[in-house]
Amino acid sequence: MIKALLLRRSGSWQRQSGLRDISLWDLESNSAGHLSVQGIDALQLVARFGSPLLVVNRARLMKDVGALQDAVAHAPPGSKILYSYKTNCVPGILKPMHEAGIGAEVISPYELWLAEKLGVAGAMTLYNGVDKSDESLESAIRSGILAINIDHMEEIHRLRAVAGRLGRKANVGVRLALSSRSQFGLDIDSGEAHAACKAILSSPEHLDLQCVHVHLTSNAKDPSAHLAFAGRALEFMRQLKDATGYTVPYLDLGGGIGVPTTKNMNGIEYGLYRLFGVLPRPPRLDECKPISSFMEELIQSIEAGCKRLGLPTPRLLMEPGRLLTSRAEFLLASVRAVKQRTRGPTFAMTDAGRLSVTFPCDFEYHEAFVAGRPSARLDAFYDVMGRVCTSSDWMFKNRLLPRLQAGDVLAVMDAGAYFSSYSSNFAFPRPAIVMVQDGEATLIRAAETFEHLTAMDRA
Ligand SMILES: Cc1ncc(COP(=O)(O)O)c(C=O)c1O
Repeated sequence: MIKALLLRRSGSWQRQSGLRDISLWDLESNSAGHLSVQGIDALQLVARFGSPLLVVNRARLMKDVGALQDAVAHAPPGSKILYSYKTNCVPGILKPMHEAGIGAEVISPYELWLAEKLGVAGAMTLYNGVDKSDESLESAIRSGILAINIDHMEEIHRLRAVAGRLGRKANVGVRLALSSRSQFGLDIDSGEAHAACKAILSSPEHLDLQCVHVHLTSNAKDPSAHLAFAGRALEFMRQLKDATGYTVPYLDLGGGIGVPTTKNMNGIEYGLYRLFGVLPRPPRLDECKPISSFMEELIQSIEAGCKRLGLPTPRLLMEPGRLLTSRAEFLLASVRAVKQRTRGPTFAMTDAGRLSVTFPCDFEYHEAFVAGRPSARLDAFYDVMGRVCTSSDWMFKNRLLPRLQAGDVLAVMDAGAYFSSYSSNFAFPRPAIVMVQDGEATLIRAAETFEHLTAMDRA
C-alpha cells in the first residue's frame, strides 16, 4: 500500500521532470524523430559501432571546460584547473581538455604515468591518493610536479627519503581531513595536520610546502560546502603562519562541484530505492547554481576571508571531475527482451547494467530516453536490467519509460562521470567509446575483445 503510493508519486515526478528535455545535453531530435548528437543519429551510431556504446559530445565537453575557465579567470593569477582523472580516465577525452589548458589531478601511479604520457607538464599535475609508490614519487619529483598532497604522516618520511636520494626538492601539499568519518587526509583538531606541515617545513632542503588541500563533497549544487571547507583551510593556514611565519601559496579546493542534470540520492532516498525500488525525485534544474556565480561567490568569500585573517589571497587549485565531463557523454544500451508477467515488475532486459557500466545509477539520479523516440510519452514502469546473471545487475528500478520492445535503444544521460571508471568486464567485454565532433564519429576506445579478457592469463 505504502509502496504503491510512493511509486505513484515517483511516477508523477518522473513524468513532470524538467530533465525530459534533450537540449539540456545539447542533443537534438532529427527528422526521423530519433535522438541525434551533432547531426548524427544515435541509432546509426549503434548500428555502426555496436551496443552498448558510450558517446562523447566534444562540443558539449569543450563548452563545460570553457565555462569553468571563464569563471576561474577571476581567481588570483596563477590559479589552475586540474581535471580529476579518476572521473573519466580515457585518453581521447583527456587530450582535448589538456589541449585547452586543463591540467591533471591524479590519484595513482597509473594515472600519473598516463598524465606524463599525454604530455601534461609537471607544473600542471597534482598527485593525490593514499597509495603512492616510491617509483611514482620519484617520477613526480623529477617532473617538477605542482604538488604531491600528503594523505598520512608516513608519506612525509618516504617522500623526504626519495627526494633525498634524488638530491631534489619535492613540492608538497597537505590534505586536511574535514570529517572524522573520512579516511582521507590529516586531522586538524588533534594537531596532526599542523604537525605534518611542521615536519615538511623542517626539511627545506628536500620538501617545499606548496598547498593545503580540501575535498569532501560531491555534486554540490551551491557553494555552501566549498565555502565552509575553504574557511576552515584558511583558518588553518593562518594558524600555521602564526606558528611558523610560513604562508602557503596554494589553496587546493578539490572537486565536488555539481551539474544540474544528476543528483546524489540522500540517505532516505537511497534507502527507499533499495527497499522498495522507488526512484527518488529528479533534480530540479533551478537548484543548481551556474558555475559563473558558484565560482564568483567562492572567490569573493576566499578574498574576504583572507582580508579578515590578514593572509595574502592564495592561488586556487580546482580539481573538477563531474562538472567537466558528466553532461558530455551518454550511454546507448539495447533492449534485448521485455518480460511482462501476471505479477511483479515488468523487466526490460538490456545489454548494460550496474555491474558492467551504469554503477553510478545505483546512488545517483540519471535521466533516460528511448533513442528512437526521445519525446514519446512515459507510460509504463520497468525494472531495467543488465546482462550479468545476478539479480543485482539492474540499471533502474521502477523507471517510467515509453512502452518498450526488444530492439529499442535506451540513452542514459550523464555517463561522462564515473561510468567508464567503474565499468567492469564481468562476463562481457567493456563497450566502445566514440567521440562525436562536427558531424563525424571517431572511435576513441575500441570495445574489448575476448582476447583482451584473457590477455594477462598464463594458464
Ligand atoms: C581528491 C579528489 N579530487 C577531485 C575529485 C573529483 O570530484 P568530482 O567529480 O565530484 O568533481 C574527487 C572525487 O572523488 C577526489 O576524491
